Amino acid sequence: MSADIDFIDIFDPAAEYRPYARDIKEAVLSVLESGEYILGEQVALFEEELARYLGVRHVVGVASGTDALVIGLRACGVQPGDEVVTTPFSFIATASAILHAGAKPVFADISLRDYNIDPESVLKCLNERTKAIMPVHLYGHPAPMHELMRIADEKGLAVVEDAAQSLGAKIGERKVGSFGTVAAFSFYPTKTLGGFGDGGAVATNDREIAKKARMLRDHGRVDSKEHVLLGYNSRLDEIQAAALRVKIRHLDEMIERRRAVARSYGELLEGTDLVIPVEGEGVRHAYGLYTVRCSERERLAEFLQRRKVGCGIYYARPIFEHPLFRDRPYAADACPRTRLACREVLSLPMHSGLSPVQVGYIKKVLMDWRKERASV
Ligand SMILES: Cc1ncc(COP(=O)(O)O)c(C=O)c1O
Repeated sequence: MSADIDFIDIFDPAAEYRPYARDIKEAVLSVLESGEYILGEQVALFEEELARYLGVRHVVGVASGTDALVIGLRACGVQPGDEVVTTPFSFIATASAILHAGAKPVFADISLRDYNIDPESVLKCLNERTKAIMPVHLYGHPAPMHELMRIADEKGLAVVEDAAQSLGAKIGERKVGSFGTVAAFSFYPTKTLGGFGDGGAVATNDREIAKKARMLRDHGRVDSKEHVLLGYNSRLDEIQAAALRVKIRHLDEMIERRRAVARSYGELLEGTDLVIPVEGEGVRHAYGLYTVRCSERERLAEFLQRRKVGCGIYYARPIFEHPLFRDRPYAADACPRTRLACREVLSLPMHSGLSPVQVGYIKKVLMDWRKERASV
């Protein structure tokens, strides 16, 4: 069976492009022909459409998810001297955005149930310098927003949602990115709404924060003559916006396809030695990634690779253990649940373009792993 199957990558952005290729080509071509390439009609329309999808008042398109975090933090008033409580179990951009805003990241531990920041641990990190909490909706599973918003409201803190991996995830009927003071999204090609290069967006219900984010993304200007903030050149391109406008119309069906793949993996892996992702009550997991935990991760990774199934490790070490943080060492026993996750997590192929044949093949390989483990 494996002889006639090509290697199955963990991501395949082209497979998520092909079903919509005709419309995307047409949309991109019409931008090329319009001559309007920066902050034109396509970005404005995409911002409206994404705001409607999320159920928020304002969306500001920017050049990447990282920029959306930096601009979001600054737009809600985070500044040098402030502390921002966040998770160490995320992509480096979460914490580097806090550094870019001039503030200090303070790391709370995660819950091993959904790998998101643990509200109890957040409470232990607060002090008079804390300005904001930055949860990450990791892998597509919402962070515990009701509990975090309760803490933030009580203490008068801003909440900056890092929703880069989770566009389309919900708690009840509310989409992630609609709970906090401000939220950041990424359109990196492998995300649930993947673009064709870099791109990102800031979302908020606050008119003043949206206004500030618009200024920050465009050199801090209020109009063509006046610059009032130290801003950036961080604009979402018209070409990206035009293509994203096509894909956002299909976002929910793409997420449903991801969810069907997750169900398929889950049925097979339930009750094995792999810890599978679980969906919290009333939650819609968007499955940006499908991540299991395995005490013999390196063996499993090798087993999969040898049988042409790609996998990835997100993340192999807590953010604070990167050399970037060598000047502020963390105690060896800090964030034990994050450390355990870093040792054991492994992500399987997950995207909406996986074919039934590919899913069937991956399941067969996982079944072989199961058999091999049972006979040990
Ligand atoms: C959790 C998280 N935050 C932020 C980012 C940064 O997004 P971008 O790559 O669009 O800058 C990513 C991207 O991988 C991410 O996964």
